[in-house]
This record gives sequence, C-alpha cells and structure tokens, in this order.
Amino acid sequence: MNAKHCATLSILETAVLFSQKQGRTENPIKQLVTTFLILFVVQYSVLLLHNIFIYPFYRSPLRHLPSPKDDTFFFGQTLKFINAEGPNDVVLSYMRQFPDAPLIRYLHMGGAEWVLVNSLEGCKEVLQTKCYALEKPEWFRRVVGELAGIGLVNSEGDAHKRQRKLLNGPMSTTNVRKLVPVFNAKARELADQIELQINRSPDAAIEIDQNLAHTTLDIIGTTALGVELGALQSSGGSKFSTLYGQILDPPPMGQLISAINIFVPIRSWLPLKANRDFVNATVEVRKLLRNQIRERRSAIFGGQDGDKKTVDTRYTEAGSRDLLTFMIYERSEGENKWSEDDILGHLLNFMAAGHETSTGGMTFALLALRLHPSLQTRLRHEIATKIPHERIHNPSAANLDSLTYMMAFLKEVLRVYSPAIYIPRTPPQDTVFCGTVIPAGTTLMINPAVMHYNPNIWGPDVGVFDPERHLEENSEKVPAQSRDPYAQMTFSGGPRVCLGKGFAMLEMRSVLVRLLTRFEMERGWDEQGSRLGDGEKFGGRGDVVVEDLFAGVKLKNFVALKPREGLWVRFRRAESEGGE
Ligand code: HEM
Repeated sequence: MNAKHCATLSILETAVLFSQKQGRTENPIKQLVTTFLILFVVQYSVLLLHNIFIYPFYRSPLRHLPSPKDDTFFFGQTLKFINAEGPNDVVLSYMRQFPDAPLIRYLHMGGAEWVLVNSLEGCKEVLQTKCYALEKPEWFRRVVGELAGIGLVNSEGDAHKRQRKLLNGPMSTTNVRKLVPVFNAKARELADQIELQINRSPDAAIEIDQNLAHTTLDIIGTTALGVELGALQSSGGSKFSTLYGQILDPPPMGQLISAINIFVPIRSWLPLKANRDFVNATVEVRKLLRNQIRERRSAIFGGQDGDKKTVDTRYTEAGSRDLLTFMIYERSEGENKWSEDDILGHLLNFMAAGHETSTGGMTFALLALRLHPSLQTRLRHEIATKIPHERIHNPSAANLDSLTYMMAFLKEVLRVYSPAIYIPRTPPQDTVFCGTVIPAGTTLMINPAVMHYNPNIWGPDVGVFDPERHLEENSEKVPAQSRDPYAQMTFSGGPRVCLGKGFAMLEMRSVLVRLLTRFEMERGWDEQGSRLGDGEKFGGRGDVVVEDLFAGVKLKNFVALKPREGLWVRFRRAESEGGE
C-alpha cells in the first residue's frame, strides 16, 4: 500500500459517507474536500507509522537477513550514506561486517528496505538468470531519466530486447573499431591543450578530470551526433557542453537536491535556483538535441527528385555514419520505426552513459600512474616496442589490442576505481533470490566495488593496485573466483551489460597512449597548495593488505566515481622511450 492507494481509499470512503447524507449539507464541495483530506492524512499517517516502526522489524520477510543495527530514527542508514567520505564506504563496511552473507538488508529513509547483493552467484542471478524478471526501480528511472532520458537504459522487457538488438548493429565491435581515428584526434587535441598549459606555466599542476570530461564529451558528440561540440577548446566550447556541465557537475546545493530527490521526488516543484538551473539545463539540452534530429532528418531526406524524395548519400554511406544518422536512416522506416522521442532517448543515453564513466576511468588511471611512476615506464616501454613508430601518432585498433600490459593496467584501474557505483534492480512481483523471497518493489543493489574489494574473491592483496593479477600468464596464480565473469562488475553483466564497453576500452587506451608518449606525470598540488599523499602508505585490515589507493583525493557523492576537487597532475614532456 502506498500514497496512491491511500488516496483511492479516501475517495471511496468520502463517496460512501456523502451518499448517506445527500441533501443534508450546506457547502457540499468544501465538506467533500475536507472529509477527503482528513481521511487521507489519518490513513497515510497510519501507513507511514506501520512502514517505519512495524513492517521492517516484525513483518517483512527480509527481517531475518543480516542487517546493520546502527539505524538513525526515521532515516535508517541514509545519513551514513550522505555523510560518507566516499560513495562506496558504507556498502564496503557491510561487506566486511557480513563477508559470507549473499544478501544484506539495510534500511533507508521512511523504512525503505534495500538489499545489497554480496556474492558472485547473487550478481549472476540478478543480472543474468533472472534479468528480465527484474526492472530498474522507480526512483532510479526518475533520477537517471532526468539525466539520460528513457532510451535503452530505462526500457524494460521486450522493449529492451528489441531496442538492444537494433543498437547492437552500430555498436558492434567492427563498427566501434572504425571510430579509433576519432578517439586519436581528440586525444591529440587534449595533449595539445596540456602542452599549451605547460608552455604557459611549466611547474603548475593541471586539473585533469575536467579536461578529460571535455575530451569524452567531444568524442561522444562526434560519434553519436556527428557534431563538433568544441568542449576541449579553451574558449569553453559550445552551448551544449556548457549545459551538460550544469547537469553533470552541479554546485553543492544542486548535489544535495539530487541526493534528496532519490527518496522524495522534489525536482519538479522545488523553487530553489540550483534546482531551476538544473531543470532548465535538461530542457535546453533536449531542445538542442531535437533540433539536431530534425536538421539531420531534413538533410538526409530533404532532396526532391520530381515527386520522389532523395537521400543525401554523404550521410548514409556505410562506414561514415554516426549514431544519429544510423537511427534516422535505418530505423525511421518500416515496421519497427523509431519516433523522434525514441531517438532523443537513445542520444541522451549515449551522451550521459558514455561521458562521466569513461572520464572516471581515465582520471583514476592517471591517479594510478601518478602514484606508481614505475607503471608509466613499463607502459611507455610496451607502447614503444609494440606500436610501429610511424603509427604512434595514430594507432589502429589492432595496435591498441597488442598492448596486453596496458589492458591489464586498465582492468586493474576499473577494478579498484570502478566508475559506475550503482546497478539497482527491483522485482515487480515477489521473487526468490539466493533462496530468499524479495518482496515486490524492494531495491536490490549491486555495487561493483563490493565484488571488487572482496578478499574472498581476489585474495588477501585485494587492497593493492596490481595489474599483474589480470595477465594471462598469471591466471594460475590468482584465486579461481577472481576469474569468474562476475568478479569484475565494472560494466555490469548479462543481457544488460554496458553497450559501450568496447567503445570505452578503445577510447581509454587511445587517450592513455597519447598522454604516456607525450608526458611524464607527477604528483600535483591540491587547491590548498599542500602536497597530496603519495600512496606509499600500507596498512592492514586483519589478513588483508591495504594500500592508500586514493592518496588523499576526496570523492564526490555522485552516480559515477569522481574526485570532489578534481585531480591535479603535473605534466612534463616525456624524454624517454616512446616520447614524441
Ligand atoms: C568506463 C566506461 C563505462 C562504464 C564503467 C560503464 C558502465 C556501465 C554499466 C555498469 C552499465 C549497466 C547498468 C545496469 O545494468 O543497470 C552500463 C550500461 C550502458 N552503457 Fe555503459 N559504461 C561505460 C561507458 C559507456 C559508453 C562509452 C557508452 C556509449 C558510447 C555506454 C553506453 C551504455 C548503454 C547504452 C547502457 C545501457 C545498456 C542496457 O541497458 O542494455 N557506456 N554501462
């Protein structure tokens, strides 16, 4: 029972009461409204009291699951999540408290029950075996829908299967490999920007997270929209990139509103400037994308040959299509044609899903390189020995594939610093998971970090940054569980595995090759001017060896892993092997 059910019940009760005293009331409308409101408030209050104080402790089938006991009145564990230093800290503490429990229950605001999936089998059941018995929770659809529209990310069941099949074409390995020259060109632009800044001030540290965010936005603009967004240009880029910045990187008040909006839908009515700015930016982005769709449609189909419309083949030649053209040209006719809203949803998905995640992957790759200079030397050596000299400026997909140590390095970056924080699902009907009945509407939460930091899966050196564990030649030396496909959950798994996985892995390799061949990276200085930690601290947690993996870099409470005050790196021109 929820607020809607209470409202329906109150309407029925009001109707019954009034049918009994028809003709005996002086101001029937006023009385009708007052009766309804009183009934609704009383019933809804009883329901809330039941949900907060009775259901989770005495009635819920989940009450027997292991649960943290230090709840705060009404808020449950929510304040802990809001106040935590990093977005994974709280769930990691549950994993350590209940290492052998496949499911862990925790309470959020108003008695909402969430269940953390804490085993490889559980992840497989949720993401693969029972994938289509689950949906994205209503709060996730609402919050992510504001950023990323409906599209593939928020579609369910048969609609998801159909759209996924259609999008698999343009996102196939063959097509994505054709995009490597775009990645290389943008990586070169980024390196040129860094070079300019070094020329201006050789010893200054550069905030690299924002620069990488501009790079990935430009890449996705070219590959999805076929448009140069110009985010990397020092002038600040296009209107589109400014608006995207307002949506994805709001001020602190905007971040707080986003956090509250998960539990209470306040976005549509809260009259604060930070909220209005966010809403306006999402409206403007949608307008710009709609214009883009209409312009491209008329550019492709606009020509007339007598009575017949002709197609402008400049856009449609195989191999030269961006995603927008693909959707308009190949998917706007026939049985399964896509409407403007469908196309808008997919574009918004790609812009949001393919932007902050890849940025996070590369930002934390640079943190790891800054903390472990020996890895820079090793990677530079691999690039110099495996990529022919004449291709170093524009490596092909095959050149990038030949970098096996780079691949192991990236896998370790994506294990230790997994960019995606939340993979939530909910059963629309009561459903059994890991032998427990999960009531309809409960949020089942997979946090990739919970698998990535589990010593039962990765061994006692789980807290150490070590690319060696991913090398094929070491596969017999690492724990067998770490080779399970669900041990590394960076891109999720099953039928809804990230559609852009191949894209992101090539994009990140292209940018890292460019940066490593042109620069050496050193510790920077944070905004206060003090030296950042250097990652040399080692400590212990029981038998588990733990390295200071974040080295003082504070994290944002955001849907993707992001440094709160940016990542400061000092770049020097590389003189050694592989340098240009
Ligand atoms: C390092 C970079 C990336 C990471 C860590 C990442 C992570 C993820 C994760 C965890 C999911 C699954 C969410 C779920 O199951 O609920 C996902 C889905 C998705 N990702 Fe990515 N992603 C990355 C890059 C990209 C890129 C570059 C694109 C597009 C060019 C992209 C497009 C998508 C789409 C469309 C989906 C929805 C798939 C579906 O529901 O069928 N991602 N991503």
